[in-house]
Amino acid sequence: MTQGKGNNSSLMPKGRLEGKVALVTGGASGIGEATVRLFAEHGAFVVAADIQDALGHQLAASIPSNSVTYHHCDVTDESQVEETINFTLQKHKTLDILFSNAGTLGPFSGILDLNLHEFDTTMAVNLRGMVATIKHAARTMVENNVRGSIICTASLAASMGGSGPHAYTMSKHALLGLVRSVCSELGAHGIRVNCVSPAAVATPLVCSLFKVKPHQVEDVASSKANLKGVVLKANHVAEAALFLASDESVYISGHNLVVDGGISVVNKIFPKE
Ligand SMILES: NC(=O)c1ccc[n+]([C@@H]2O[C@H](COP(=O)([O-])OP(=O)(O)OC[C@H]3O[C@@H](n4cnc5c(N)ncnc54)[C@H](O)[C@@H]3O)[C@@H](O)[C@H]2O)c1
Repeated sequence: MTQGKGNNSSLMPKGRLEGKVALVTGGASGIGEATVRLFAEHGAFVVAADIQDALGHQLAASIPSNSVTYHHCDVTDESQVEETINFTLQKHKTLDILFSNAGTLGPFSGILDLNLHEFDTTMAVNLRGMVATIKHAARTMVENNVRGSIICTASLAASMGGSGPHAYTMSKHALLGLVRSVCSELGAHGIRVNCVSPAAVATPLVCSLFKVKPHQVEDVASSKANLKGVVLKANHVAEAALFLASDESVYISGHNLVVDGGISVVNKIFPKE
């Protein structure tokens, strides 16, 4: 039987983030949206930050507990990131969790034709944006003595070639370096820094750029996957982020939690096993 809905969170105990304050970038859509909903379900106050204002406001209005607020933030602009952290502090007095998740897939061209302006844009969102959000979130955590949790969305493309375009793969590899590098400095303040690395999920990032329907992405992903019987959904990634945000992962830092059904550790040589 295929488990695909990714809505089995109702089986888990609720309240794993009771009273915590979380900021989720790229929070209006896909993995970010699923995480905003799940964090709120678990008792967190969430600021969803994005550049898709209509979607973001719609999301906040759809959460019955009023615990989600939408705030415009383009992560490529450091002043907007700083202003968004200040907005979160003014509204909720503290910041416990950063889910730095905003991302773009970037140009698809090969290295021979790579447009370096498009390369810069990908790096500005996927890497510089993550640097800016970690910098300003960590500053406030340190200043307020908060033993916070920072989680970035990396990718399968953070640890192997061939699962994304060049610029995207470079940006996600660099992000892994960022997480591993800053976890020591921030660990001295009791702040944990980790990332989640999903395989392909049928979100607008993938579907709109390839101009395909969600089921087409899922069919291709499932045919490549070695874990059968489950289709990877945004909510499965949100569950991994929830684990890293909660006290259940209290001694986990510098970790890359892959959510890929094992695809990154298998390169089949023997036909059967
Ligand atoms: N979907 C996948 O297959 C997949 C796999 C691995 C990793 N990821 C990563 O997951 C993260 C979320 O992507 P998704 O798949 O949910 O796609 P998505 O398109 O549904 O969500 C990405 C969100 O980021 C926002 N965003 C883009 N640029 C921004 C900016 N400059 N400032 C603020 N927000 C911005 C978009 O508006 C969008 O709401 C990305 O970092 C992506 O690289 C996705």
